[in-house]
Amino acid sequence: MTIARKNKTVIMMKIFFNHRMLFVLLFAGLLAGRAIAAPQTIKPGEVWPDDRGQHIQAHGGGILKLGDTYYWFGEDRGQTNARGLRCVSCYSSTNLVQWTFRNQVIQARSLEDFGRGWVLERPKVFYNAKTKKFVMYMHIDDPLPGQRGGYQLARVGVAVCDTVDGDYQYLKSFRPLGHESRDIGQFVDDDGTAYLIFEDRPFGFRIAKLSDDYLTVEKEICLIPEHMEGGAIVHYGNLYYAIGSALTGWSPNTNKFATATNLAGPWSEFKDIAPPETKTYGSQSTLLLKVVGDKTTSVIFMGDIWKPATQWDSRYLWMPVQIGDGKLWLPEPREWTLDIKTGEAVITATNSIAR
Ligand code: GAL
Repeated sequence: MTIARKNKTVIMMKIFFNHRMLFVLLFAGLLAGRAIAAPQTIKPGEVWPDDRGQHIQAHGGGILKLGDTYYWFGEDRGQTNARGLRCVSCYSSTNLVQWTFRNQVIQARSLEDFGRGWVLERPKVFYNAKTKKFVMYMHIDDPLPGQRGGYQLARVGVAVCDTVDGDYQYLKSFRPLGHESRDIGQFVDDDGTAYLIFEDRPFGFRIAKLSDDYLTVEKEICLIPEHMEGGAIVHYGNLYYAIGSALTGWSPNTNKFATATNLAGPWSEFKDIAPPETKTYGSQSTLLLKVVGDKTTSVIFMGDIWKPATQWDSRYLWMPVQIGDGKLWLPEPREWTLDIKTGEAVITATNSIAR
């Protein structure tokens, strides 16, 4: 080794020695960064623990993305909720796999006099950039069949908040554009326009645009004359894909999809998204989530595996769908990984976890 090279090595060693803590921190930071960015595993149908180790309570849920953070809202049917309370919980995640519990954003004994045993289902939150308000829509109904009436109110409820995970303030309930509305779904198009999807029992599946402030449902875009609920829409490529389930209550059935080049239709005929004998692998649709990465775009089917007698234990079936050219197919549920940065969804397990 020449003297010059020897000196250079000594200098470098000195720099390393004097700043060794900095190097350790840098290395740890790199590792942590890798861990966050690395693909994470989703296990459809399993208990899905949050950061507290508790099964996530976000049934019939919806997703709102703000910056790099996803917020998952849904029915909180936790066993520890006080009797008679209707709760909506909010969780956050930057990778769609590890979820942090944020708040029970709705905890209501009564909002209006909807009757004992009233129903709050399928909450969906939109962010209005103009008013800077978070606006929640929910299905509001009167008590379950077997008691008085049952699901006859058929309204949406609206609640607002200044922060995404604060305590939402209830505003009102109404029938959107005067129509019956039971299961609701949310859809925000790539241009930012927000739509409510709702099931109108006498007529079918409606897609309607929210008003500028999102506080009301302003304009019908389409009535699809199919009797379907659990409605969800995704805009992928140059097509809109709509999915929904049949009307069989908590029991699973074969969910179906149709496509259109325009939200207003015409829509194609509805076709199965999975082999009919599997009844959508025991699940019911609630949302189609588009994850746009720097390599690819994946679409995730978000469904609920309902357990009506033990609702707190209802599970989630999230799977990346095969989508494109007017086709949509839900693969058999298996463990899969999602790389939120690249958008790549990879089915990793060979064993089916279909029930
Ligand atoms: C389902 C609906 C659920 C809930 C249930 C009650 O069809 O999707 O959100 O309303 O019926 O039986």
